[in-house]
Amino acid sequence: MKKELKVGIIGSGGIAKVHATAYSKINLVKIVAVSDIVKERSESLAKEFNAKAYTSYESMLKENELDLVSVCTPPFTHRDITLDVIRSNINVICEKPLALNSREAKEMVEEAKKRGLYFGVDFQNRFLPQHVKAKELLDEGAIGKLVQARFRVGYDILEALPPSAPMREWLFDKKKSGGGVLMDIGSHWIDLSRMFVGSEAEVVSAEISKNIENVEVEDNAMILIKFKNSVHALVDVSWTQQNGQWPVELYGDQGTILCNFGEQTIVLYTKNKKYSKDGKLKVVTPPLPEIGEPHEYLISMFVSSIVNKTQPPVTGYDGYKAQEIIDAAYKSANEKVKVIL
Ligand SMILES: NC(=O)c1ccc[n+]([C@@H]2O[C@H](COP(=O)([O-])OP(=O)(O)OC[C@H]3O[C@@H](n4cnc5c(N)ncnc54)[C@H](O)[C@@H]3O)[C@@H](O)[C@H]2O)c1
Repeated sequence: MKKELKVGIIGSGGIAKVHATAYSKINLVKIVAVSDIVKERSESLAKEFNAKAYTSYESMLKENELDLVSVCTPPFTHRDITLDVIRSNINVICEKPLALNSREAKEMVEEAKKRGLYFGVDFQNRFLPQHVKAKELLDEGAIGKLVQARFRVGYDILEALPPSAPMREWLFDKKKSGGGVLMDIGSHWIDLSRMFVGSEAEVVSAEISKNIENVEVEDNAMILIKFKNSVHALVDVSWTQQNGQWPVELYGDQGTILCNFGEQTIVLYTKNKKYSKDGKLKVVTPPLPEIGEPHEYLISMFVSSIVNKTQPPVTGYDGYKAQEIIDAAYKSANEKVKVIL
């Protein structure tokens, strides 16, 4: 019989509950302990998931023989906490953005590698059903060779976050968040660009702007990436859009894939012979896979990787490479230069 994995969670705010819910649905896992510097938060999460509450994550790591820890704290704590977890020889999933910058992220990746530990990052948007299907179609050649891609996401951050949301304690404070929309939702959409393009960034140029009164971090960013395989991608992220759309658009030399976030649909326009016998442009709306909630999917796949000693679906390395592009985008926007990676 396979051993039960003992799990701990650091940070007991908004996303911690999503991790706890995901773990609670996996047979081979027991949530043993949770922590938060705010006592009421760790106690409330612990009560809900029948775990022990801590205010010190260091004590939590020392007193329990944990196999896996989720780091669900704000970005400025990710490096130190994740390194402490790794140095306690415990596998870890860290929330996005992985760190405040790529230097920190690299340190975390190298330490986990040195110790042979599993290190994941919560880029769950890879597992939205329309993205999973789009990647499958792209990989089977449904639109031929990918030439150009666009990744857009936009919403109204002030409307999305009620004034009482704990996230407001750190999200708009550059020292704690590392930056604005580019670090927050931008890290996800940059990760999607790497996943779909299937290559690493070579040249990055970006523009950022600040529009919200009394918010010191950027709320809009457009990043143009030339990947090493010559594909061009535009990542366009906004915290100020009303009725913003979240499309992923993939343009190949034989067709186009359009993913829609809101309705979770996908449309394929293709001249590929598999779909179009006469070689004329056909419109196909393929059925989407049943993935379930994407955080839950990612976490269950990560646990399965530990148990079966296989490659996790998304790793700390992906978090590091996304962070490299974010760093380059800030440099490009602030210094008005193209950044070669
Ligand atoms: N993957 C996603 O889609 C997604 C969604 C939301 C948030 N996140 C990320 O998750 C992280 C946390 O976000 P959140 O929305 O849960 O924020 P939150 O503010 O709701 O919760 C963070 C919690 O961490 C606690 N904390 C701070 N320092 C701590 C420490 N040293 N030890 C223990 N606890 C500590 C805070 O008291 C707070 O309760 C961020 O990096 C955020 O970007 C990811």
